[in-house]
Amino acid sequence: MTEEEKIEQTQPDLIDKELEILVSTGQFESQGSNIEYKVLISAEIEKLKSAIEKSHKLGEFLKGRDWEALALIRRFDSKTLYHSLNTYSILRNKIHEIVLPDGRLLIDYINEQEEFTEHELYRAAVLHDVGKIKIPSLIINNVISRDRWKAKFKQQSFEEQKRQLRRLAEIDGLDIPEHVYATQESLEAFIEEKKISPTLLVPIANGLFPDEIESIREQGYDPDLPLGILVRCHEQYSAEIIRQLSDENDSSNNRVAELASHHHNYGRDKTFAEQNPASTTSLAISENFAEFLPQIIALADIQEAMESSLRNYRKGPAKQIEKFNEIIMRADTGINPFFTAVWLKPELDFLEKQHTVVSPDEAKALKKIYAWVEDQLNKKPPK
Ligand SMILES: [Fe+2]
Ligand SMILES: [Fe+2]
Repeated sequence: MTEEEKIEQTQPDLIDKELEILVSTGQFESQGSNIEYKVLISAEIEKLKSAIEKSHKLGEFLKGRDWEALALIRRFDSKTLYHSLNTYSILRNKIHEIVLPDGRLLIDYINEQEEFTEHELYRAAVLHDVGKIKIPSLIINNVISRDRWKAKFKQQSFEEQKRQLRRLAEIDGLDIPEHVYATQESLEAFIEEKKISPTLLVPIANGLFPDEIESIREQGYDPDLPLGILVRCHEQYSAEIIRQLSDENDSSNNRVAELASHHHNYGRDKTFAEQNPASTTSLAISENFAEFLPQIIALADIQEAMESSLRNYRKGPAKQIEKFNEIIMRADTGINPFFTAVWLKPELDFLEKQHTVVSPDEAKALKKIYAWVEDQLNKKPPK
């Protein structure tokens, strides 16, 4: 039985209302002395530990109430737990295999700096999505595909489409020229060109039943906001929950919270990647580790999402090419393109050595990906 199946099979069997409330609010702190809660959560932790293989080496770095957090993630949604563990595993493997242009292994580069430890990075990776437990399941487990959201966007009036794009521009601080709003064609062409996801535009209410809309409104979420915007809250919630896992004076714990709080870069300027195309170092990787390490988590996160066959919106594992393209596309949104190329290179080289038979179209797509990677790697960092 795979670990994934084990996690799925060992479903939480406690139907305790208090624990349910706790899961949906993420309030750990207040439960510290509640005996009933302690008994319930201990049982959950034991079940979780027996479902997780030792190969994850979690014992090396998990601390304090981390197991409790993982047990709550599993109770919230076993897919999210599996995603969290896998993101960490991908990250750990990658940083041990990536060779930087100066010949150093990435893990050595990370260990040479003193701002964050390797174990803090692993903790942040495992716990990066813990904030999702505070978001209503109707939002986080939305099953509507991106194509259907796109169709919903197109069905709306031009006035409504303009309102939604202007709103996104305001939220993300995007500078959109006025002529984009001139006609429906120019607006849709802009969205297409900039690869703006319809999940950032269409109100979530357009994909819910009336009672569901009421339910999320009651939980304090505005149903006029798009799914993608509502989900963004989880990044900050993750930091809030991680801070509660240990004493507020635990500086290591605070550093882990900081790393997790930027795993999507939502709170940061989206033009960051453009303004910092490479970096100040000869490696073209930022020496600001509070900026750089969350990017490693982000890449592992995207890679896991693309490889996972468990995602609601995707049936079966995405093809390699689709995965590479998705990762490259995200390099426009805050992840250093040079480092994205460094990240992709070992897997591309492996694929090339395998001499897998591909169709002419796939060969063409792969060639384009190789060219992008090479282009990034050859760019000279600014002096
Ligand atoms: Fe996330
Ligand atoms: Fe994630």
